[in-house]
Amino acid sequence: MLKRLFSEQDIANTVKDLAGRIENDFPDEEILFVCLLKGSFIFTSDLVRQVGNRSRIDFMRVSSYGNQMATRGNVEIVKDLEEDIEGRNVIIVEDIIDSGLTLTRVRDLLLTRNPKALRICALIDKRCRREVEIEGDYVGFTIDDGFVVGYGIDYAEYHRNLPDICVVVKEDEV
Ligand code: PRP
Repeated sequence: MLKRLFSEQDIANTVKDLAGRIENDFPDEEILFVCLLKGSFIFTSDLVRQVGNRSRIDFMRVSSYGNQMATRGNVEIVKDLEEDIEGRNVIIVEDIIDSGLTLTRVRDLLLTRNPKALRICALIDKRCRREVEIEGDYVGFTIDDGFVVGYGIDYAEYHRNLPDICVVVKEDEV
């Protein structure tokens, strides 16, 4: 069953706070937001509407989990960016950092393209599960271990449309 971790209001407050921090760091500068599909689609759409800067948005799709609850460790680029990021301020928008393998792969790839600045904005950081060292520059929530869904994040492609962020709990853990 699902147990609510963060409500719509909690998330809205946090997204607004993250947007404010980004605006402060890039006063009057253009930003290219890179939405990592699929999990970040709702977070990105809310975040970019809170950022007052002139912005562009592009999408990448990388795959690391399949339908399982454990990481595969092999991060595949399924869809690359369409924008040229050389000399531009780029913010990777990620729903959740778990092992860190996805972001490490994406960050390292984008760094080879010589952006002016490259930052990471993650809504959720599950730090205890990290397998490689990587940190978000803008992090919304830090959580303990547990499988979360909602607000774009799935379990076997379900629950992405939940407005809240919930944790999946077994019946005997309730
Ligand atoms: C999930 C999540 C992150 C990534 C984090 O994506 O959305 O992108 O895993 O895990 P990591 O830090 O261990 O690499 P997933 O590959 O499941 O695809 P999805 O975004 O389409 O759900």
